[in-house]
Amino acid sequence: MPLSPIREITDVDVEPLEPCLPVEARAAGLENGHDLNFNGVETQHATHSMHPYVAAMNPPLAASLIGHYVPKGEVVLDPFCGGGGVVVEAILQGRRAIGCDVKPLAVLMTQAKTTHLPSGRMLRLYMSIAEQAEKVARRTSVDDVPDMIRFWYRDDSLAPLKALQAVVCRIEDEAHRRLFQTVLSATARDVMLTYRGEIRLRKLQGSDLERFQPNVFAAFKRRALSAIKSVSELPTGSRAEVFTMDCRKLTPAQVCHTTITSPPYGDDKNGVGYFQFSRNMLFWVGIPLEEQKRQREAFLGCGADSHTKSAPSKTLQQTLSVIRERKAAHYREAANFYADYLDGLKKIVNVAQERVIIVIGDRVLSRTRINNGHITTEFMREIGWRLEHYYTRQLTKKRIANLGGDGGGISLEHIMVFRRP
Ligand SMILES: C[S@@+](CC[C@H](N)C(=O)[O-])C[C@H]1O[C@@H](n2cnc3c(N)ncnc32)[C@H](O)[C@@H]1O
Repeated sequence: MPLSPIREITDVDVEPLEPCLPVEARAAGLENGHDLNFNGVETQHATHSMHPYVAAMNPPLAASLIGHYVPKGEVVLDPFCGGGGVVVEAILQGRRAIGCDVKPLAVLMTQAKTTHLPSGRMLRLYMSIAEQAEKVARRTSVDDVPDMIRFWYRDDSLAPLKALQAVVCRIEDEAHRRLFQTVLSATARDVMLTYRGEIRLRKLQGSDLERFQPNVFAAFKRRALSAIKSVSELPTGSRAEVFTMDCRKLTPAQVCHTTITSPPYGDDKNGVGYFQFSRNMLFWVGIPLEEQKRQREAFLGCGADSHTKSAPSKTLQQTLSVIRERKAAHYREAANFYADYLDGLKKIVNVAQERVIIVIGDRVLSRTRINNGHITTEFMREIGWRLEHYYTRQLTKKRIANLGGDGGGISLEHIMVFRRP
C-alpha cells in the first residue's frame, strides 16, 4: 500500500522533560542530540548485519549506554531484544547479556548473533548444506506452499527455499542450526518481492518486479559466508542467554545490573507490524502460520482487553481522550497497549539492580501525537523510579511515515535513564 499523505497532527500539551546531563555523560559523548545521532558512524559492524530487523536500536547508541552505565563483567538485560542490537554490543564489550522477546525470529537471530562458532567447521557445514539443497530442489514439490507466502516470491525461488528449509531444519547441533536458520531467514528476506527500506511489506510493481531476478542459492551463499566470518570473530566462548518470553514473565533468574531496551512504540496492528515483517521468514525456518498467530497474542496490546484499568499517566489520559473522540477502536487498542506496557515495566524494574534505560520514540495514532517519553516517565514515577538522566536524538532517516490507520512514528527518540530508588 503506498504511503498516504501526512495529515495535520494534534499535539496534546505536555511539560517538557527536563534534560539533566551529568558531567561524566558529556565525557562519554552522551551530551547532545548531535553526538547521539552518530551520523556517518558504522552501524553494521560485527554480527549486526547478519539479519535485518525493524525498529532496531542503533548499535553505537547501545554501545555508548553500556560503556557509560554498566561496569565490565556485569549483566545487561534487554527484555525487548528484537534483532539483538543491545545484546550483541554487550557481548562485544565484555558484559554478560540476557535477552528475551515474544517473537521467535528475534530470539533466533539474537542467539545466532551472539554465539561464537569456529569458521572452518561452519564453512564445511555450509558446503554440505548447499550441495544437499541443490539436489533436493530438483525433486521437491512446492504445491503445499500457502498462497499468502507464494505471493511474495517468484515461482522459481520456491523450490530452492523449500530445499534449504528441509536441509537446514534437520541440522542436529542447535547452535549450528540456529546460525543457518538465521542465514536462511535473511536470504528469504533478500529474495522477497518487496520494496526495501519500508516498514510494511509492499509488493514490487511493474518494471521493479520484472527487473528483480534473485538467485536463492547465490543469496544464501553471500549471507552464509558473511555470517560465518562475523560469528567466528565474536569473542571466543561468548554466548548470551536469550529466550522466547513475554517480558511480563521475567523472574529473579533474569536479574541484571542494568536494563537497556527499546520497547515497541505501540501494538502490532497500529505500530511497526513485527508479525507481518517476520511472517514469511519464519515460515521458511519452519514455523507454520498458525503457530505464529498464537505467538502474536503475547505482544504488548495484542491479548485480551485490559483497557478498563485507569492509567497512572496524565499525558496518556489526555491523549486517549482525544483519540477516543476520533476512533473508538484506536482508543481501545492504545489503551490495551499502554496497560500491558505498564505491566511490563513493573516486571522489568523488579529484576534491575541499578538502572533501567528506555529508548523510545513518539508515535501518531488517529492523527494524535502520543508522547511515549512522557508516558514512560509518568509510569515509572508511579512505580517509584525517577528519571535520572534524559537525552534525545533525531532519527534522520525516519519521517512521520503513515503506517495505515492514521498511525506513524516520529523522528525524535527519547533516551531515559531511571535509577533504582
Ligand atoms: C523496538 S523493538 C526492539 C528492537 C531491539 N532493541 C533491536 O535492537 O532490534 C520491540 C520488540 O518488542 C517485542 N515485544 C513486544 N511485546 C513483547 C513482550 N510482551 N515481551 C517481550 N518482547 C515483546 C517485539 O517483538 C519487538 O521485537
